[in-house]
Amino acid sequence: PETGCLSIIVLGASGDLAKKKTFPALFHLHRQAFIESHDVHIFGYARTKMSDDDLRNHLRGYLTPCKGCEETHKEDVSKFLALINYVSGPYDAEEGFLSLDEKISAYEMSKNNNGGSCRRLFYFALPPSVYPPVCKMLKSFCMKKSEGGWARVVVEKPFGKDLNSSEALSKQIGELFDESQIYRIDHYLGKELVQNLLVLRFANRFFMPLWNHDNISNVQIVFKEDFGTEGRGGYFNEYGIIRDILQNHLLQVLCLVAMEKPVSLKPEHIRDEKVKVLQSILPINDDEVVIGQYEGYTDDPTVPKDSNTPTFATLVLRIHNERWEGVPFILKAGKSMKSRKAEIRVQFKDVSADIFKPKSKVRNEFVIRLQPSEAIYMKLTVKEPGLEMKTTQSELDLSYQQRYQDVVIPEAYERLILDTIRGDQQHFVRRDELKVAWEIFTPLLHKIDNNEMRSLPYKPGSRGPEEADKLAEKVGYVQTHGYVWIPPTLS
Ligand code: BG6
Repeated sequence: PETGCLSIIVLGASGDLAKKKTFPALFHLHRQAFIESHDVHIFGYARTKMSDDDLRNHLRGYLTPCKGCEETHKEDVSKFLALINYVSGPYDAEEGFLSLDEKISAYEMSKNNNGGSCRRLFYFALPPSVYPPVCKMLKSFCMKKSEGGWARVVVEKPFGKDLNSSEALSKQIGELFDESQIYRIDHYLGKELVQNLLVLRFANRFFMPLWNHDNISNVQIVFKEDFGTEGRGGYFNEYGIIRDILQNHLLQVLCLVAMEKPVSLKPEHIRDEKVKVLQSILPINDDEVVIGQYEGYTDDPTVPKDSNTPTFATLVLRIHNERWEGVPFILKAGKSMKSRKAEIRVQFKDVSADIFKPKSKVRNEFVIRLQPSEAIYMKLTVKEPGLEMKTTQSELDLSYQQRYQDVVIPEAYERLILDTIRGDQQHFVRRDELKVAWEIFTPLLHKIDNNEMRSLPYKPGSRGPEEADKLAEKVGYVQTHGYVWIPPTLS
């Protein structure tokens, strides 16, 4: 691994993303010695005027102990906070960036006798509207002057609002930084079970021969939250659920479920395959879209009363290639639903010439529960234990909580930030990938923005509009009635 001084610069240090995700992830990396006090320093930058201690105190409450780390927590926190300095300044004028550079350089100078080269990681916990000026400022005033080492920028969605705005942003950033320096975070790619997809699919004989339109009837990729847009109405109303969840998180998952086997595990090989899947997706058919908005959404004072912004969407993507022709990929996401969960549900076709004649139609399913209660399970038909020859639905279940009792599953951001330090772009979105993702959704988004398609109301705490279930059924999904998977609890 690279050694020498590492400066992590969190831009937007006083904001929501920084305190809820970035700093806690850095804290955990530090606690586990993935980044170490002797060769790392953290600089917070934002417009708010405050002292180093103000920032430290502001962050303290967000740094929580992991299971089993309670005893050393206080000490861990103070060691971590001691690494942080704060610089305030505007995002579009040189003064702040000059003093930021001065501080980083002073730190680097103090470390120079270690012999390693200096590395600068700029983490944008910022609204994308300031990405272009910030990139310019960094490029002009904060690039390293020493030999060796590197400078990288970490950015996060929203990358624009549609194809044109996203391309404009990519172009502006692309003029200042090389693609190899840009890390576009999609935090779903940092989730344990999303990362497992590659292994499951390509390291097991079980799945390979079945993973195609001959055997699979439909695939669902589902995201549900049991809370609304609380406190984020202003942001959310501008974007809506399709830009917030489907165009990035669920589409990324779809790529990993559907892509062909990459030539190797090299990040470029994997990303090449993801782009191919995206390029094979057909234009979305309006008849295969249901959008909804939960009742009460517009009570938020930051949301206009006549908002058509969807907080729920179910839509079908169709991949036009040899493997997937005819298999609907049903993407579904909603806020303010009955439960909170994210999962991939691969439903197989019916058994031919079934001799068991079940009362209602049942199908094999392979389910990857991303969260909560991470698990991989196969829903299958077995003989009901007992004297009768009766069938019932059961499962082969790999529940992480039970199987990996001593393992703490790392937070997505922790893993991804570590990748940015290590220089591994596998779990980051490449520019061409982003472009195709926008190409797929832009026509639909424009229709919604222009009110040509209306969001249907649904009750908070429900399954969303009924029309969505009907759509899934229409394209081939068969719900098994009377069977519920219950995550095993530890005895
Ligand atoms: C974010 C969205 O990207 O992902 C949020 O902007 C959403 O609206 C969040 O709540 C969900 O992330 P997770 O990891 O809790 O599933």
